Amino acid sequence: MHPDALPRFVDALPVPRVLHPDDFREDPREPGAPIAYYRVAMRPVEVAVHRDLPPTTMWGYGGSVPGPTIETRSGRGLLIEWRNELPDKHFLPIDHALCGSGPDRPEVRTVVHVHGAKVPPESDGHPESWYVPGSSAVYHYPNRQDAATLWYHDHAMGIERLNQYAGLFGVFLIRDDLEDALHLPSGPYEIPIVLADRLFDAAAQLVYPTSGMPDAPWVSEVHGDALLVNGKLFPYLEVEPRRYRFRVVNASNSRFYYLSLSNGQLVHQIGTDQGLLPSPAPQKIVTLAPAERADLLVDFSGAAGQNVFLQTQASQLMQFRVGGGPSAKAAPLPAMLRQVAKIPESSAARTRTLTLNEYEDPKTHVMLMLLNATRWKEPVTEKPALGTVEIWTFVNLTEDTHPIHLHLVRFQVLDRQLFDADEYLTSGTMRLVGKPLSPEASEAGWKDTVRAEPGKITRIIVRFEGYAGRYLWHCHVLEHAANEMMRPFEVVA
Ligand code: C2O
Ligand code: CU
Repeated sequence: MHPDALPRFVDALPVPRVLHPDDFREDPREPGAPIAYYRVAMRPVEVAVHRDLPPTTMWGYGGSVPGPTIETRSGRGLLIEWRNELPDKHFLPIDHALCGSGPDRPEVRTVVHVHGAKVPPESDGHPESWYVPGSSAVYHYPNRQDAATLWYHDHAMGIERLNQYAGLFGVFLIRDDLEDALHLPSGPYEIPIVLADRLFDAAAQLVYPTSGMPDAPWVSEVHGDALLVNGKLFPYLEVEPRRYRFRVVNASNSRFYYLSLSNGQLVHQIGTDQGLLPSPAPQKIVTLAPAERADLLVDFSGAAGQNVFLQTQASQLMQFRVGGGPSAKAAPLPAMLRQVAKIPESSAARTRTLTLNEYEDPKTHVMLMLLNATRWKEPVTEKPALGTVEIWTFVNLTEDTHPIHLHLVRFQVLDRQLFDADEYLTSGTMRLVGKPLSPEASEAGWKDTVRAEPGKITRIIVRFEGYAGRYLWHCHVLEHAANEMMRPFEVVA
């Protein structure tokens, strides 16, 4: 099925519904105070991705892809009962050779992770805490963190990339007073945009590519030619000639986006993974690796009566149909959004140097991708003490950019710097080349996923706060994470 053969912009952009609580229950950590209780079922769902295509089977949370948007406020905890109501057989190709995915495991396993949430370890959605159809888990999200665009997705060991590709993802918004005081566009003027590329077969059914080797179907990356926005192919959105706020989430397995508007107009990025930037960053191109988020303000007041396209490089994603006159002149943007106090490097209790590796067997061409040359099952090596600050230096020895995500925490990007990889590989000596490169304007706030670029070291500074216990860090190219760019870390009380 070739998306290019389809007429464009014949479907309206779907906006996922906002979930309402089913009940109120006692806060597990503060008995006496009732908090919202939601039930979300994972189920097969028939999704119409385009007017001229038959619906395709996907798996969704709460009956849709993306799943419903969960909205809360900073400090307002909530409980979610995540129910696995999926069939017992998977419809996408499982690779039983991957870690945690052996033939002895039930085919369909799920566990939900709220990406960017500061949660107790038992509610974090650890990959090995999966459960099978007919079971559920109740997770507690205290939400003691700043307003931010978070998202939720499947994380089941060995098949996370298939489950997410099947459609198991949605948006999770935390709001707060500081953000309210900025009077950003809201209601119909604030819209989530979830990007996820997919492949479809001749019958327009969702397919996941394979290597062609029946015993090792794993592929190193997936790039779908159908670039879905909120689950639609080439949708349109009717907008008024005024300012809008878009919460953009890259929910793709492997694809990076380089977002721009077709009329060359600037967008103002006001937030990143973990909330508002210190000040608005005017951008021509917004880069988003898998799992990264951008909070964008777009002012359509100068484009009344025109069609403006959101594109990634030369590919159109969606159309904005800007209504004719009278334009609402947007108020000037506040120069200051949120104070982001820099964590001083001198406060770091330690620095960890962690390599990103890809090994290819010269004979079989079988690939092994690791963090710090260590497999998932090996003992925990990263054990930061609760409340302490650490600098993590990612040494990228591969030819790819890897979006590295740490659970539980938010961090600041210190810098990136070129280094001599050959010398490092042969002698273990780190010879830095040139000057350190400052993070981009869009990385000046709090992050939870950072692009570790090839040939460079990337340094982040992290305070391990919140909860003690077992978490993990991994590359968010889901195919890389499955093979095995994923490691536990443990916050020690
Ligand atoms: Cu987006 Cu380990 O997760
Ligand atoms: Cu990677």
